Amino acid sequence: MRALITTKDGSVEFAEVPEPRRTSSELLVQVSASTVARGDLNTARLSPPGSPVGLDVVGTVVVPAADGSGPEEGARVMGYTGARAGGWAEQVALDSSLVVPIPDALTDDVAAALPNSGLAALAGLEAGGFLLDRRVLVTGATGGVGRLAVQLAQLAGAEVTGLVSSPQGRDRLRVFDWLTTASADDVAGPFDLVVDLVGGDVLSQAMSLVAEDGVLASLAQTAPETASVPFFWFAMHPGAKLVSVNNTMGQREAGRGVRRLELLARLAQTGRIDPHVTGAASWEEAPDLLAALGARELDGRTALRIS
Ligand SMILES: NC(=O)c1ccc[n+]([C@@H]2O[C@H](COP(=O)([O-])OP(=O)(O)OC[C@H]3O[C@@H](n4cnc5c(N)ncnc54)[C@H](OP(=O)(O)O)[C@@H]3O)[C@@H](O)[C@H]2O)c1
Repeated sequence: MRALITTKDGSVEFAEVPEPRRTSSELLVQVSASTVARGDLNTARLSPPGSPVGLDVVGTVVVPAADGSGPEEGARVMGYTGARAGGWAEQVALDSSLVVPIPDALTDDVAAALPNSGLAALAGLEAGGFLLDRRVLVTGATGGVGRLAVQLAQLAGAEVTGLVSSPQGRDRLRVFDWLTTASADDVAGPFDLVVDLVGGDVLSQAMSLVAEDGVLASLAQTAPETASVPFFWFAMHPGAKLVSVNNTMGQREAGRGVRRLELLARLAQTGRIDPHVTGAASWEEAPDLLAALGARELDGRTALRIS
């Protein structure tokens, strides 16, 4: 089958690859759409040449899981590949714990933008516990994960601030009611929860903004530089926690991943969250789209149509 794989110069190219091998809990999906996210850029840049790419999947089940779990043959589904990727291919194997049927009303383009980013946003927010009336800071708020984190935190009743890197970023977030936007210079803590989607200097600065007993959930290394711990952070923030969060954590336990994907699909279908899909392109254009993402030229998610 045809698939995009990583190249030695940090991009992707087409190759003929074998049909994916499956365990008994995995189903085979004919892929119709994916999306272009920062995680895909990381795969292209950091994985050995020849590695599979693509974290988000929308498609149709062609072979159900042998153990009977998950959606049936012919079901239209969305799912998350986990770290092993492989969604930028004609077919992909997905574990039944990370794939759900989706309603016709949810378009391929929107559904494809939900799994990876939505699970990450939920995992980051979960680190803060009960969010009603809590002060939440989301860094990288203009990004795909950031926008969903902002919306999900607002739905949970939090008082949300989105950190932006430029005045243009502030304009891009004006669509959200009740959202306070702040630049690095004017953001005012303390926050009960910081969901950091940038890393580097932003993470270093965010550590100073966490409340005593607050939580800083670190999900990202978008910025190139290494974060540093502010002087006497532990003394100034007794009880504060810095936790590393991964969107695959615990998703296979007790149907958690499935429930979360169903929640994301329901919220998007009813218009309560919007993953901000601003365009769609053929997967033939994937190398150019990755380059544009790396140059911070993409605003919103671009759906990738796989044929
Ligand atoms: N831990 C997990 O399980 C998990 C899961 C999914 C994603 N992630 C990570 O989460 C991060 C966000 O993912 P995404 O898909 O939302 O990325 P994205 O759509 O590319 O958004 C990146 C965001 O970071 C900002 N940004 C980029 N470089 C920056 C810099 N040097 N300094 C300050 N801000 C910068 C961008 O601001 P501008 O708009 O101004 O460029 C944008 O708001 C990525 O690092 C990704 O790998 C982690």
